[in-house]
Amino acid sequence: MTAAPLVDGFGRRHTDLRISVTDRCNLRCSYCMPLDVVFKPREELLTAEEIARVAGVFAGLGIRTIRLTGGEPLIRRDLPALVRRLVAIPGIDEVALTTNGLLLADQAEPLREAGLGRLNVSLDSLRDDGFEQIARRPGLDRVLAGLAAAKQAGFTGIRINAVSIKELTESEIVPLARFCRREGFHLRFIEFMPLDADQAWDRSQVLSGADVRAILEREIGPLVADAPADVGQPAVDYRWVDGGGVGFINPVTSPFCDRCDRLRLTADGQVRNCLFSTVEWDARRLLREGGDDAAIVALIRDCVAAKRPAHGIDTPAFERPARAMYQIGG
Ligand code: 5AD
Ligand code: SF4
Repeated sequence: MTAAPLVDGFGRRHTDLRISVTDRCNLRCSYCMPLDVVFKPREELLTAEEIARVAGVFAGLGIRTIRLTGGEPLIRRDLPALVRRLVAIPGIDEVALTTNGLLLADQAEPLREAGLGRLNVSLDSLRDDGFEQIARRPGLDRVLAGLAAAKQAGFTGIRINAVSIKELTESEIVPLARFCRREGFHLRFIEFMPLDADQAWDRSQVLSGADVRAILEREIGPLVADAPADVGQPAVDYRWVDGGGVGFINPVTSPFCDRCDRLRLTADGQVRNCLFSTVEWDARRLLREGGDDAAIVALIRDCVAAKRPAHGIDTPAFERPARAMYQIGG
């Protein structure tokens, strides 16, 4: 028996699940968490067993790809074991990971062996002082070592994510692009979204993808648009005729909500239908009160049915989610 797919009230079919495995992190990026962050008690986070169970239910409803996020997912010691379990779920085609790379040098190989498919590494600056200004902790050399180890372990198509913020990112754009071209990494700029904990986000601080592209074309050379690798992807990719490419994720200046195929599971077991949801569905309670799979299916379907057409960042009615990025998962 095949269950009906997860289609919301606007005809969007959901095939991608983002799972945050922890809210903890070894950096303190200003766009993601407060400096004096307080993490959840460990018992409030889902165990690997619980995550795998919920993921299995999602897979039965048509989820095909899983991305693990955080916080910083590599902080969880059981991550390779969790990846192995998720990869083995029938219906799951790919398990990917977004990491800050600090712990990657030691973990790249076990993760590769566990069957991890893709790797996204967040990196906003190639200068020690720039890195520390944004991440509010040092670590650039460890990220670079992690990237080298990931290549060594056999990962291909490694992506680098850089958040674009006015007056912070401009000077990083060309060095990041040159580095990624040289190393064979695919660079993506993500517009700064109102998910920082300090509520400091303001539209005027967003460095648009179009502005970043203009700088790259002026400094490096003309970019040609690539056909999207898959229709649901939020990124618009470009390449230089003489090699290398760059992508832009423009949630603020060019929202892609109409193509959204994502659902989310937070580290404390809440199902969300959007990064900007103000409502959550409590799967952890169900799991811990002995709920059966049918109850989890019903919860997921409720969540999908309640999905709004768009985040509406640019509308007066926009309401910031109460939780910041590190509590939701990128
Ligand atoms: N706006 C845009 N991107 C963000 N990220 C974290 N916080 C924000 C934000 N406020 C990015 C990180 C990481 C991914 C998980 O999300 O850089 O690459
Ligand atoms: Fe940690 Fe990533 Fe948040 Fe930075 S953006 S604090 S690396 S979880």
